[in-house]
Amino acid sequence: MDFKEEINRRRTFAIISHPDAGKTTLTEKLLLYGGAIQKAGSVKGKATARHAVSDWMDLEKQRGISITSSVLQFEYEGFCINILDTPGHQDFSEDTYRTLMAADSVVMVIDAAKGIEPQTRKLFKVTAMRHIPIFTFINKLDREARDSFELLDEIEKEFGIGTYPINWPIGCGVDFKGVFDRNTREILTFSDHHRGQDKLEAIKCDLGDTEKLDSLIGEYSRRDLVDQIELLDGASFDFDLEKVHRGELTPVFFGSALTNFGVEPFLENFIKMTTPPLVRKTKSGTIEPTSEHFSAFVFKIQANMNKAHRDRMTFMRICSGKFERDKEYYHIQSGKTLRLSQPQQLMADSRQIVDTAYAGDIIGVFDPGIFSIGDTVCEKKAQVEFEGIPTFAPEHFAIIEHTDSLKRKQFVKGVEQIAQEGAIQIFREPNSGMERVIVGVVGVLQFEVLEYRLKNEYNVTVIRRDLPYQFIRWIDSEDTDVKSLNLTSDTKWVEDFKGNNLLIFTSEWNINWALEKNEGLRLRDFSNN
Ligand code: G4P
Repeated sequence: MDFKEEINRRRTFAIISHPDAGKTTLTEKLLLYGGAIQKAGSVKGKATARHAVSDWMDLEKQRGISITSSVLQFEYEGFCINILDTPGHQDFSEDTYRTLMAADSVVMVIDAAKGIEPQTRKLFKVTAMRHIPIFTFINKLDREARDSFELLDEIEKEFGIGTYPINWPIGCGVDFKGVFDRNTREILTFSDHHRGQDKLEAIKCDLGDTEKLDSLIGEYSRRDLVDQIELLDGASFDFDLEKVHRGELTPVFFGSALTNFGVEPFLENFIKMTTPPLVRKTKSGTIEPTSEHFSAFVFKIQANMNKAHRDRMTFMRICSGKFERDKEYYHIQSGKTLRLSQPQQLMADSRQIVDTAYAGDIIGVFDPGIFSIGDTVCEKKAQVEFEGIPTFAPEHFAIIEHTDSLKRKQFVKGVEQIAQEGAIQIFREPNSGMERVIVGVVGVLQFEVLEYRLKNEYNVTVIRRDLPYQFIRWIDSEDTDVKSLNLTSDTKWVEDFKGNNLLIFTSEWNINWALEKNEGLRLRDFSNN
């Protein structure tokens, strides 16, 4: 296979959901259908026994949750599929956002009983920013569910995109009979005993064939289905793949990941409808994935995966060309040429050294301590530099102080290194020393991760005091005299470690107050770096 074919058969996507909607279960079932795992239950889950794949951190093991994102690769019907797994816990971090930067499309899992939930909203917002394809899997149809039309309406209204149901559920909960495929006009009947790997038989069925339908799903469900399909065919958007690719129309699938139902039809349609690796933006234009020169950007740094070695692993998304293990590459930011040592790829249940990888793939390399999030690594001839990854605004803040002044050095080193990985953002009160720092995170679990890592890796015990702030704004106007700004008493002035001035607020109301009372003040909710 030539290298362009290799690239074009890649499908790299992330699965997003609010906790408990079924992301882990769906991921696992996709791996099961892809033949990458033999038994469901081996990916990860809340039960402590189950985290064969991503048990990198001790804390992760102890808590029985997945903190770090991992990448899973498997083959399915000639396609090479990369699933970027995002942290599933309520307390997610910037990692989750950054993972979306490495994906070419996104699968949004929604609990049919709950509809859109807060985390779905946040993740959707970041995805929509990139105008990449979004697929929707409405899960848990084997339980009582909300009305399907209402769910579609909610997606359209809240997210401002069109929906196109590829299939349509026949009942839900105890009355769940299966799904109707709108394209093939076939019915897949549901059995909650179906938890195996074998293919479900689709039954071709004309909606006008009353007798056959009645025998398959019963008269009541048949009448309901016929009415609903009529309504749907008349009212829904037309299918338009171009719109799907621009993220303006989301194909919707109904199913039940727990019972495997609807997983295979989803996978089959998804790989056909989604895109191969996308063209990527660089500071000087764009780069085609099939360009002959290798280029990649760093989207994740994970430290101390092996405590004994204090190693840091850097994850890169390959954007163009082919990666070869022993070749020398160029790190744009440092201007250094380097050989990437022990490049790894995470297969379903193991990590392995890779000799070659292609645009669309993710590789992890040991970091000699030079990489930062957003950096570019490429063949010297490629001469590209990717646009950086935006720093997302933290929503939780705390003061962290070390308890032992003899450990000051380790404390500073620890917080700075962890901040460099992008796991936390650090700030300080203007003119203050390094005895204490203000830490900002996207998800509160990161505080625990920070405390744990400072203790375990840097031998520093800290005291943490949570702060009531929720919003951060960088001051955009250089000539602003921050000291003389008219601010509410619960607004705080801080600096980042590059000396930029910021304000942290307890409410949006206070942000508006600041803008109204201080003419000429300009605020940004992300850092330009
Ligand atoms: P997440 O990664 O999005 O957080 O969700 P996860 O897959 O862990 O699923 C959350 C819970 O919902 C799990 O139950 C899981 O078994 C259940 N679930 C997932 N898909 C379906 C579905 O299609 N139908 C039904 N009825 N349940 C589903 P749990 O009891 O919280 O955990 P566990 O003990 O099963 O691991």
